[in-house]
Amino acid sequence: MNKNSIGIFDSGIGGTSIWREIHELLPFEDTVYLADSFNAPYGIKTREEIIELSRKNTIKLLELGAKIIVVACNTATTNAINELRNEFDVSFIGIEPAIKPAALQSRTKNIGILATKGTLSSSLFTKTSDLYTQGLKVIEVEGNGLVELIEAGKIYSTEMDLLLDQLLAPLISQPIDYLVLGCSHYPYLIPRLKEKFHPALSIIDSGEAVARQTKAILEKENLLNTDFQQKGTCTFYTNYDPYILKNIIKRDNEDFQVKRLDF
Ligand code: SIN
Repeated sequence: MNKNSIGIFDSGIGGTSIWREIHELLPFEDTVYLADSFNAPYGIKTREEIIELSRKNTIKLLELGAKIIVVACNTATTNAINELRNEFDVSFIGIEPAIKPAALQSRTKNIGILATKGTLSSSLFTKTSDLYTQGLKVIEVEGNGLVELIEAGKIYSTEMDLLLDQLLAPLISQPIDYLVLGCSHYPYLIPRLKEKFHPALSIIDSGEAVARQTKAILEKENLLNTDFQQKGTCTFYTNYDPYILKNIIKRDNEDFQVKRLDF
């Protein structure tokens, strides 16, 4: 048993969609979340920059006592997780677009993938996509600008409306029945996406799978906190605006703290 925390980082506030699933599945674990909003978005940065930022976040989480690290950012996972695993002596859980379940379940054999440029152009993404999408039509769309608007708290705004109409046009004109969200910020857009597509469209993200994988690794490494007396604490650090982070978590009656930290 180990009472240290599960460390989670993202380029900003979007990875809280992953934190939510982890906290739901492992409520007795302490969690520490780093939102690198100051450097968001990662999706337009070079691979070298993404690796450097991911190293910086990892070092900070280890200083804060993390026993395992969840890279709650698709762009950081697809570009940097191998380097992190080679450098640090701690287990990393990454997040990759849920292409496999979408490809296996699609009836129309047409699936859409919405992700950042950094994810779609990574070799890890291309490998996974090639492995599972033989015989399928895959329409990839770069969600340019979406992370910036989510980080600015503008999920329900005219700007978001216009941007979604523009970005989704190539998807809406095709018979897709699955839309894969390949960025941890995008689950916050699900209500907006549902307004734009036909009701039968299935929208899938990877949050639950990441939470299950985190639990499995903690069990395997004998790192679970087995003291079930009280729920785990949740601490969120941001190097930008704590208000937006606080607002997106929106959990009343829970022991969580949002703090500003330069990292
Ligand atoms: C970004 O920072 O551009 C997006 C983060 C992600 O890919 O999950």
